[in-house]
Amino acid sequence: MLKRLSQCIREYRKDTLLSPLFVSLEVIMEVLIPYLMSKIIDNGIDRGDMDYILRLGGVLVACALLSLLFGAFSGHFAANASSGFARNVRHDLYYAVQDFGFENIDRFSTSGLVTRLTTDVTNLQNAFQMIVRICVRAPVMLVFSLFMAFRVNSRLAMVFLAAAPVLVAGLAAIIHFAFPNFQKMFDCYDRLNSVVQENVTAMRVVKAYVREPRETDKFRHASGEIFRYSKAAERILAFNAPLMQLCMYGCMLGLSWFGAKTIVSGEMLTGQLMTMFTYTMQILMSLMMISMIFVMLTMSRASAERVVEVLQEKSRIVNRPQPLSEVPDGSITFDHVDFSYSDDAEQKCLDNICLTIRQGETVGIIGGTGSAKSTLVQLIPRLYDVSGGSVKVGGHDVREYDLETLRGEVAMVLQKNVLFSGSVKENLRWGDADASDEALVNACRQAQADGFVREFPDGYDTMIDQGGTNVSGGQRQRLCIARALLKKPKILILDDSTSAVDTKTDAMIRRAFGEELPDTTKLIIAQRISSVEHADKVIVMDNGRVSGFGTPAEMLETNHIYQEVYHSQVKGGEPDAR
Ligand SMILES: Nc1ncnc2c1ncn2[C@@H]1O[C@H](COP(=O)(O)OP(=O)(O)OP(=O)(O)O)[C@@H](O)[C@H]1O
Ligand SMILES: [Mg+2]
Repeated sequence: MLKRLSQCIREYRKDTLLSPLFVSLEVIMEVLIPYLMSKIIDNGIDRGDMDYILRLGGVLVACALLSLLFGAFSGHFAANASSGFARNVRHDLYYAVQDFGFENIDRFSTSGLVTRLTTDVTNLQNAFQMIVRICVRAPVMLVFSLFMAFRVNSRLAMVFLAAAPVLVAGLAAIIHFAFPNFQKMFDCYDRLNSVVQENVTAMRVVKAYVREPRETDKFRHASGEIFRYSKAAERILAFNAPLMQLCMYGCMLGLSWFGAKTIVSGEMLTGQLMTMFTYTMQILMSLMMISMIFVMLTMSRASAERVVEVLQEKSRIVNRPQPLSEVPDGSITFDHVDFSYSDDAEQKCLDNICLTIRQGETVGIIGGTGSAKSTLVQLIPRLYDVSGGSVKVGGHDVREYDLETLRGEVAMVLQKNVLFSGSVKENLRWGDADASDEALVNACRQAQADGFVREFPDGYDTMIDQGGTNVSGGQRQRLCIARALLKKPKILILDDSTSAVDTKTDAMIRRAFGEELPDTTKLIIAQRISSVEHADKVIVMDNGRVSGFGTPAEMLETNHIYQEVYHSQVKGGEPDAR
């Protein structure tokens, strides 16, 4: 885990190394200052040696200035290193997510990914800054102060040894009791995030179902839990300050008690005792800092694990060496294809599918909800890999192609299609970045989108909101079809893409396909029989198997599922308009 994260330091290695170096120098200066003070008091003031006072005073000021300077440097480098590190982590995370296949996306929730990219990275950044500064500062300070204290008066320094176990035991107890609360608090943050995320993205549904009170309750519950755990943790942490003060004043008391005696007996000088007081502070402070570091680092470990989980997630869908960079034609073959979404799934989602579709054919796919229609077509642009058998496009296994080439030739309008924020034109150019305005209009005409786009106040420059919420469902579907057409694909797949379009427009879109894209293989998943009855062939899916494959007329004669759908839609009700 640490190895993967340290790879994110990259160009900030210099800053990462310089910061601890300057911190150490800063601490050494800080530790020297009390020592010089004691010298000034004992050798200068007591003896009235002005020259000595000025000389050492000068050194002392210089030390103070140097300490300030080193501190500023280390702060500068630490800030650089930690922000740079966070930037690289965020960068790597984003790229990792971009490389995810559909199977990887299934594993992580959107809110989980967003939390990882934001809160978790910020936690890591803070932890990193702490590592390069405080993690160095506290131990160096501890060691040097102890060393100096023993140098000044080793017997008096024993007082620390008595106080240290009390402090360490106290801090350990605090951490032990506070830490589980912190951990629970972080889990609650995840829940809160997912509540907020779900709610905001699905605000319209929440309102439509008047679920606001329920959703508010859910939020209140999640936020209440965070409050409870953070209160419990903070309540325990509050013991930190009194414990620290107990130890500090205890030490001072001990030092004064024993120190006074040694001063009276002439073993030690006043200045030295004063120095010991300062070292007491420094030693106990660094002990406390170490304990805090421990808490903070353990807390950020959860964040680190979550980030690394994404960074190490490997997409199984990658190019093989020397992939094919051209798709010869738009024929499709399913050769004994098995598929399931997870490795341990007992039931196969697709079971022994064998199909051959010739280039230029229009193939309708029909079947009940959950019969794996979407699953079947998702294998063609290799959104998922088969579990068994093979899918061939243009005579070659899809795994032999370069992914970009394959997906460039297979345009798929997903069932859950989305538009992105930006103008209509920008959205359409996802299909072809260099498309001319004419080509855009032409594609929209074929998708029957030109008419309504022109009626928008700004025509093709109308801005689409995030997710395409400011156009109607049917308009969105038609824009998505136009976007797919702009790719000029060899295979065009429409997954229930005209469900929100009236039957007349649906028929016009299909007619345009027939006229304008004669060589493109067209796969049309539909619920309406009218959408598939003029196709060259129909695939009838039933629970992950092909129940029938042939011309619509053959299916009407032989396939009982097709017959059922046909009669319920055509004979039973009003015949659909063509
Ligand atoms: N991402 C996924 N992870 C796990 N299981 C899935 C996933 N997507 C679909 N499934 C399951 O696979 C089966 C087939 O789903 P699929 O989406 O292919 O059906 P469909 O025929 O397209 O249905 P619909 O007509 O409702 O779109 C269903 O049982 C579904 O629960
Ligand atoms: Mg589907």
